Amino acid sequence: MRIMLIGAPGAGKGTQAKILEKSYNAVQIATGDILRKATEAGTELGLKAKSFMDLGHLVTDDLMIKLIREKFTQPGFSQSWIMDGFPRTVAQAEAFGELLDELNLKLDCVIEVDVERPLLIERITGRRVCRNCQAPYHIKFNPPKVENTCDYCGGHDIYQRDDDSEEVVTNRLKVYDLQTSPLIEYYKLKNLLHKLDGNLPVEEVTTKIVNLVNEAR
Ligand code: AP5
Repeated sequence: MRIMLIGAPGAGKGTQAKILEKSYNAVQIATGDILRKATEAGTELGLKAKSFMDLGHLVTDDLMIKLIREKFTQPGFSQSWIMDGFPRTVAQAEAFGELLDELNLKLDCVIEVDVERPLLIERITGRRVCRNCQAPYHIKFNPPKVENTCDYCGGHDIYQRDDDSEEVVTNRLKVYDLQTSPLIEYYKLKNLLHKLDGNLPVEEVTTKIVNLVNEAR
């Protein structure tokens, strides 16, 4: 499986990528998770990224492209992946296309997870995340099976992301419209894009993604 999930903040990319990662033995490449871990660890990348993330702005293309290139060129890197949060701009998409060509890899398909705006805001402001493995939950729609315990790793530190306040979310949605949504046309022109209704419950969205992936491969 080599797929890319595109969608506004809160569309459910991370939720779906985590489920698919488990059932398809694929690696979730979640750039937001990588940056948050780097920020917590106080690395150079994390320190550079934090100021952008706190305001809901995108981290610069050169930093993100370098990060993805380093991952994909690591010896033994998985041949099966789910892109979650990268690319975010046309420049990142172009660089990613070049990287895949260099590595002789083909993208199976790009899936746009489309969700109505008011629901996006409700999802983000109610989101909680496992600090250890970054699995996303929701206080109302998708709580952990056992209170304050991560379904995936058993961790007990489930917290609210700094950028999930309503104020920052508004900015993140603007940034999505301006800088990321052009990717929809970009991948449509490459005949790779499939749009699905992300307003549906988690399990129904997963089924739709699995069907699309099976058709595309
Ligand atoms: P990132 O972490 O990638 O955030 P995002 O794209 O804004 O996406 P989210 O994590 O908010 O949403 P999601 O679609 O994954 O939704 P989730 O599954 O959690 O990026 C954060 C920041 O990092 C960026 O702002 C930027 O600064 C930087 N960054 C990252 N990548 C970058 C890049 N490539 N270039 C530059 N900068 C970059 O679900 C949301 C909630 O809804 C959860 O509570 C979940 O439980 C619930 N939910 C999910 N699906 C459903 C459903 N079907 N029904 C009901 N509830 C659901």
